[in-house]
Amino acid sequence: MNKLCLLSFVIGLVSQSAWAETAVKPASNASTLQAKNAFIANLMKQMTLDEKIGQLRLISIGPEMPKSEIVKEIAAGRIGGTFNSVLLPDNRAMQDAAVKQSRTKIPMFFAYDVVHGQRTIFPISLGLASTWDMNAVTRAGRVSAIEAAADGVDMTFAPMVDITRDARWGRSSEGFGEDTYLVSRLSATMTRAFQGTSTQAPNSIMAAVKHFALYGAVEGGRDYNTVDMSPVRMQQDYLPPYRAAIDAGAGGVMVALNAINGVPSTSNAWLLQDVLRRDWGFKGVTVSDHGAIKELIDHGVAKDFREAAKLAIKAGVDLSMNDKAYGEELPALVKSGEVSVQEVDNAVREVLGAKWEMGLFANPYLRIGAAVDDPADRNAENRLHRAEARDVARRSVVLLKNENDTLPLKKQGTIAVIGPLAKSSVDMLGSWSAAGLARQTVSAYDGLANAVGDKARLLYAPGTNITDNQEAIAYLDKMEDQIHIDGRPEQDMIDEAVKVAGQSDVVVAVVGESRNMSHEAASRVDLVLPGRQRDLIKALKATGKPLVIVLMNGRPLALGEENKQADAMVESWFLGTEGGNALADVLFGDYNPSGKLPMTFPRSVGQVPAYYNHLNTGRPYRPNDSNYTSNYFEEPTSPLFPFGYGLSYTQFSVSDIVLSINKMTRNDKLTATVQVKNTGKVAGETVVQLYLRDIAASLSRPVKELKNFQKIMLKPGEEKAVTFTLTEEDLKFFNPSLKYAAEAGDFKLMIGLDSEDVKEASFALQ
Ligand code: BGC
Repeated sequence: MNKLCLLSFVIGLVSQSAWAETAVKPASNASTLQAKNAFIANLMKQMTLDEKIGQLRLISIGPEMPKSEIVKEIAAGRIGGTFNSVLLPDNRAMQDAAVKQSRTKIPMFFAYDVVHGQRTIFPISLGLASTWDMNAVTRAGRVSAIEAAADGVDMTFAPMVDITRDARWGRSSEGFGEDTYLVSRLSATMTRAFQGTSTQAPNSIMAAVKHFALYGAVEGGRDYNTVDMSPVRMQQDYLPPYRAAIDAGAGGVMVALNAINGVPSTSNAWLLQDVLRRDWGFKGVTVSDHGAIKELIDHGVAKDFREAAKLAIKAGVDLSMNDKAYGEELPALVKSGEVSVQEVDNAVREVLGAKWEMGLFANPYLRIGAAVDDPADRNAENRLHRAEARDVARRSVVLLKNENDTLPLKKQGTIAVIGPLAKSSVDMLGSWSAAGLARQTVSAYDGLANAVGDKARLLYAPGTNITDNQEAIAYLDKMEDQIHIDGRPEQDMIDEAVKVAGQSDVVVAVVGESRNMSHEAASRVDLVLPGRQRDLIKALKATGKPLVIVLMNGRPLALGEENKQADAMVESWFLGTEGGNALADVLFGDYNPSGKLPMTFPRSVGQVPAYYNHLNTGRPYRPNDSNYTSNYFEEPTSPLFPFGYGLSYTQFSVSDIVLSINKMTRNDKLTATVQVKNTGKVAGETVVQLYLRDIAASLSRPVKELKNFQKIMLKPGEEKAVTFTLTEEDLKFFNPSLKYAAEAGDFKLMIGLDSEDVKEASFALQ
C-alpha cells in the first residue's frame, strides 16, 4: 500500500473498488512492519479519544442492540467490530457505515465462533482430536475458514485449547482433550488452517485462541468456577497449547472468564502482560470474553463498573466484548488521569494492528465482496463441503469394543435403529455449530438408510427420551434449541423398542447426550447416560440380539454398564453435517475406524479428574495390592478406556523397542524404533504413540507423558518400521524454580497403541 493510498484512505476519498487494488502483503518483513506501524501511528494522531474508545468496543449482533442502532453507533465511531453476523448484506451495511459515514473511515471487523465449521459442520473439537490426524484437522480448519470468509467473517474465536481433565465440564466438547502435547499440536494446526498463507488473504480468517487461561481446570467441572493451580502445573501442562497457537501466528487471544489463584484473567496483568507479551512475545490483539469486564464486580475485585473498566484496560484487555464498560467509563477515567491516554492507545494500536493484519485497511470489503456477487441462496448445497466433512467425520469415530467381530455390519437382513438420538440431525451438529443447519445434516438413521439402500430393512423406535429429568429439560431448553420430548410414558417407549428389536437381526442403539448437554453452562454432576437410556440398553440386551451401541456425546461418559451389555460400542461424539453417512461408513466397514481417545474415560464420575499423565504419589495404585495405596475401594481405580485407546477392524502388533543409544548426551539424537505389523485381515490405520517418564527428578514427574505419535496405514500382513527421534528438548520440564531444563538421569521410554498397552525401554541422559 503506497503512502498516497494510505492518506487518501484516512481522509476518506477512496472508492470501494479501489480498495481491492491496494491489497497489502503480510507484515512479514521489516519494511512492511514499518509501513504498518507508520500507518497506524498516523491514523491514531487524527483520532479523538472517543473515537479511540469506540475502536475498543466489540458488539454482538443480537437482542442487546438492534441492527439499526448498531449502524448508527458505527457511523458515530463508537464500535470497532461486531460478532455473530454472517449475513453479507448486514455486514456490508455496517462496513458502509464505518468507511463511508464515520469520520475516521476506519473499517469494522466481523467475528464469529467458527469452532468446528461454518456452514459445513465438522465433528466437535473432541472428535477432531480423536483423529490424531493433522491433515484431516487442517482440512476441517481450512474449509471452515473458506466458508466463514465467504460469509464476511474476518476473525474466529477459536481454536479453543483449554486442557480439560474433568468430563463434568460441558465445554470439554469444545476443546481437544486432556493432553498437553496433543492439544498443542492441534492448536497450532488449527491456527495455521484458519489463517492459511496469510491473515490478509480473502479466504483466511484470523484465529483468536481461547480461553486464556486455564479455563478447562474450573473446580468441580462447574462452568465459570475458580481455578487454583500451582505455577509448575500451569507452565507444564495448561499454558503450552495457548502458546502453540501464538507461535503458529494466531492474531488474537480471548481472555478467559475464570479467575486464576484469585485473580480474574480479565484483570490479570501478570497473565496478559508478563506471560503473554513479555515471555511469549505476543503481538496481536486481546479480547475479553462476553461481558467479562463487568463480571469483575461479581468476582469481587472491582467495586463498580468504573473500577472494572479501569482494571481491565490496565491489565491489557484490548477489546471489550459486549459490555458497555469501556464506552461508558473510559472517557471519565482518562479525564481524571486514573487511566492514561497511553494505556488506551496501547489497546487501540492492537485493534488497528489486527485490522491491518486482517487486510481490512487495504480492502474493508475483502471478505464481504460486492452485492452483485452475493449468493442467491446463502444455504445453497453447493456452498457446502460434504466430501471433506464425511472423510474427517469417519476419522473421528473411536471403536471402543467389538466382541466376536460384531462390526462391521452386513448390508442385509433387518437392522433395528433405536434410541433418542437415532433420528436427530440437530444434535449431530454439536454445540457451537456456527451457521450449520440441522436440515442439511444427516442423522444416524438417514446415514444408515443411505448406505443400505434396498439391500436391508431398517426399523426404528426412539426407545426413550434423552432424559426424564424435568428440571434439566427446563434448564437446557433455554440454550440453542429445545430438547425433543415424546409425550408417551417412558416404559411404553422401551417396550416398543424391545418389540422392534425382536423383529431384527441386529440392534444399533444410538444413545448419549443432546448437544446442549455438552455446552457452555452445561456442567453435569454425573457421567452416566441420562434418563432411562440405561434401562433401554438393558432391555435391548435382554432380547438376545447382537447389540451395537453408538454413542453421541460431547464428553467422556461413565460406561461401565453399557460396556458389559454391548457386543460392540462406538464413540462418535457429534460428527457434524455428514455425521450419519460417516457413521454408516464405519458401521458397515466401508471405512476401518482409526480414532483414538483424546480424553480418559473414567469408570465413575468419582474418578474425575481422570488423566493418564498423573504423578505416581508415594503410595501408587497397584491393581493387585490395594492396601493403603492411592485408590478407590468400590471399583478398580484404572480408567474404563485409557487415553489414546481405540480399536480397529484389524489387529496390529508392536515389536520390542530398539534404541539407537542407551546413554544420551545433551547434543545427541536418540532414535527409538518399533516394527508395527497389521496381523489382521483388512487394511487399517493406527496411531503409534511415544511416551516418556523421567524416573527421578527435582520434582515428581508424570508416570508417562505423550511426546510424539505417528498415524500409519498398513495393508493386511504389512509391517512398517516406525522411528521416533528424541533430543534434549523432549526431556525438558519446568523445575521447582520454573526453569525449563532437562535433568540428567534415567528415563523410561514407552511405545504403544494406547497409553496403557506399551512396550518399554530405558535410557539415560548424561
Ligand atoms: C464464550 C466464548 C465465545 C463468546 C462469543 C462466550 O460466552 O465463553 O467462548 O467466544 O461467548 O460468542
